[in-house]
Amino acid sequence: MVPLALCGGPHVRPRPYAPWPSPSAATRKVLVAAHDSGSWWQDGASAAEELETWLAGEFGRPAVAVSNGTAALELALVALGIGRGDEVLVAATTFISSATAVSRVGAQPVPVDVTPDSLTLDPEAAAAAVTSRTRAVICVHLAGHPADLTGIRRLAERHHLAVVEDAAHALTAAWDGTRIGIFDATVLSFQAAKLLPGGDGGAVILRDADTARQVRMLANCGRERGSGSYDHALIGTNARIHPFAAALVREQARWYPQAQQTRAHHHQVLDGALAEQVEKELLVGPVQQATVHDHYAILLRAPGRLAEQGVTVGTLATALSAEGVPAKVLFPPWQSAPAYRDDDRARSAHTPRAAQAALGTVAVPHHVLLDPHAPEQITAAVAKAVAGADDLAAWQDQHQAAPAGRA
Ligand SMILES: Cc1ncc(COP(=O)(O)O)c(C=O)c1O
Repeated sequence: MVPLALCGGPHVRPRPYAPWPSPSAATRKVLVAAHDSGSWWQDGASAAEELETWLAGEFGRPAVAVSNGTAALELALVALGIGRGDEVLVAATTFISSATAVSRVGAQPVPVDVTPDSLTLDPEAAAAAVTSRTRAVICVHLAGHPADLTGIRRLAERHHLAVVEDAAHALTAAWDGTRIGIFDATVLSFQAAKLLPGGDGGAVILRDADTARQVRMLANCGRERGSGSYDHALIGTNARIHPFAAALVREQARWYPQAQQTRAHHHQVLDGALAEQVEKELLVGPVQQATVHDHYAILLRAPGRLAEQGVTVGTLATALSAEGVPAKVLFPPWQSAPAYRDDDRARSAHTPRAAQAALGTVAVPHHVLLDPHAPEQITAAVAKAVAGADDLAAWQDQHQAAPAGRA
């Protein structure tokens, strides 16, 4: 047996994968042009407007580019009139911003469990959590996998709920042939690790021009975009996107379809290789109705042999990373964060599938899938971990305090 890289053996992938974000001559060119234009703010025909025009064309709806995904979520909730006394259902498996946005507008986020096969919001669990105060639901297209748009539509219609789609991990994902971005507000993130990185940045896609205008004003201290006036019609905030970020995002969008195709192909090859060489159904999704998946991350279930040996997903992620395949543990249910320690309503929610997923899943970032050798190398790294389960368990005993996540 080849020794694990973690224990001093050779690496499956000796050279790092190409970095992400991925600077290129094209991104440098747009950045220099934005710099040289002297338009370092949102004045005139700004880069933000160009990005918005592209997004509006993609989604067939008005778009507002803002400073980041977290602010985008907050602005969307404010524009939808969510506030004090309201409850908002939030998928339990997500980055914490999906929930903190609700708290920050004064409403109560309520964790909702996810489905085991896609780790996205379970509409039935959401229906069971509805109370007379529930006003909205936030679903997350986790790791690029579309949430169940059909079930969410039914839920929203039945209980008269607004729907915010957290699409920080997605762009083109589709459920049963319907592209995401069909409800009240859809939020994107252009943070550096995302599919369209701008360093930081975000956007809100809205149903109508009036709400879009309201979000645009809210993001510009309550006045019209580009205005330096003191004509503050709304109590807003400063959540403007920087034009340099907007220019970077717009440029990278040009090769998105090609990258998307490459990731989808390599994900499929990986699925087959893992099933053949390690264990079946190690990848989370895509479920059959997920007709387009953005593959923001490869979500990999810990193989059974590792769980049997008590090897945690934290140790598995460390072992894969040591082999040269970068991996992290999945988000814990957001209500378990210390930030929610005093929120009895959130803390008392029962989300066993989200809890189980956090203890049994690792995430490999999307840019790895752009490499043609990724499927075979990820498979080899996982196979090595399984073959070396005893060594991994011993390593873990010695380093017990270090890894995060428990099996
Ligand atoms: C699911 C999800 N929602 C929202 C956000 C927040 O986006 P941003 O980092 O742009 O504020 C993130 C960021 O990682 C995320 O993963």
